[in-house]
Amino acid sequence: MPTPTYDDIVALDAAHVMQTYGRAPVAFVRGEGTVLYDADGKRYLDFLSGLAVTSLGHAHPAVADALAEQARTLLHVSNLYYNALQPQVAATLDRLLGGDGRVFFANSGAEANECAIKLARRHGQANGGAERYHVLSAYGSFHGRTLTTLAATGQPQKQETFQPLPTGFRQVAFADVDALAAAMDERVCAVMLEPVQGEGGVQPAPPGYLEAVRALCDEREALLIMDEVQTGLGRTGAWFGFQHSGARPDVVTMAKALGNGVPIGACWARADVAAAFKPGDHATTFGGQPLAAAAALATLTVMEAEAVPTRAAAAGQRLCAALAAVPGIVDVRGAGLLIAAELAPGIEARPVADECLARGLVLNAVTPTALRLAPPLLVTDDEIAEAVALLAAVLADPTITGGGVQ
Ligand SMILES: Cc1ncc(COP(=O)(O)O)c(C=O)c1O
Repeated sequence: MPTPTYDDIVALDAAHVMQTYGRAPVAFVRGEGTVLYDADGKRYLDFLSGLAVTSLGHAHPAVADALAEQARTLLHVSNLYYNALQPQVAATLDRLLGGDGRVFFANSGAEANECAIKLARRHGQANGGAERYHVLSAYGSFHGRTLTTLAATGQPQKQETFQPLPTGFRQVAFADVDALAAAMDERVCAVMLEPVQGEGGVQPAPPGYLEAVRALCDEREALLIMDEVQTGLGRTGAWFGFQHSGARPDVVTMAKALGNGVPIGACWARADVAAAFKPGDHATTFGGQPLAAAAALATLTVMEAEAVPTRAAAAGQRLCAALAAVPGIVDVRGAGLLIAAELAPGIEARPVADECLARGLVLNAVTPTALRLAPPLLVTDDEIAEAVALLAAVLADPTITGGGVQ
């Protein structure tokens, strides 16, 4: 079958796909490592990785081989039966998280968080009575788009359209321990946080914050849930973002990078917390099925062999240093290879991101004034140099920056 043209793809999409996304004018059809190709054969450097998903790059041969072999062997069996791969993935994740935990597999970040919230309610009500089901999270957070994870997401403008949302969710200011302490009454079963707020603008938790939250959770008998959907699996320069701090959460969720592009999410919990779930309490048809688990096992195997957290930390330092030297960028923040470049006053991020795309660099405007860069963790120095040079050229173009950069 011939590859459809860009115009064919857009027309078919408009006629048949729910129009919930404000899409950029490009249709990618192929990728290899850090490089993507569009329907016209044009080459792009992918410094977004499908929003921190393809951490090993596109079409990684080890993942592709594992998928092809699994597809020919056994695609799916119900969770009513054992499958050989799921516990192997769970054992690897448990080891990377420090051990003594159990894992539930889901299909996405929102579903991993949904599991964490249900588990926290079950645990809270078992230990603190029927009223202990409230979850506290932070303004600026993002935890998903299901009704429950939207209720946990600290972005009122996203919530407004879908009221009424499930009850039992409240938000406090991010990085403000006093605000959290004031909100933490005996109804609270869990505090849910991202170690770096990703969608909220790449905002790292300040030093000492997670440790203070941990102490507060211990004192008030609430669980600490760490949403590592975007930060997990090497992205920040550690296996998990919380590992930069001295705080150990009770529950950790992840998704994006786990299957290097194959949808799979996971919720890990300390064994005694996980025991609050009884058989029948939670389930999903596809979660941890053989194909997704094969992708995750291959992804984790390559990630460990390549020591991706160390590579992400080193490449992140080089990328941050290069970005900081670009005229038009006034601040660079983040951790590892989850980075935001804050633009000089007066420069809007959206037209800059659009022009980068037009010139062959994929990144996104994570706030109206900041660009997000999240390249594959195996990104090379040459690719970093090429991307930064392209971005610098865009920022030097007065037709894009509205008057030029001082
Ligand atoms: C921190 C965080 N949690 C949850 C989600 C939701 O994940 P998904 O889109 O896979 O449902 C995201 C997605 O961006 C995220 O960044």
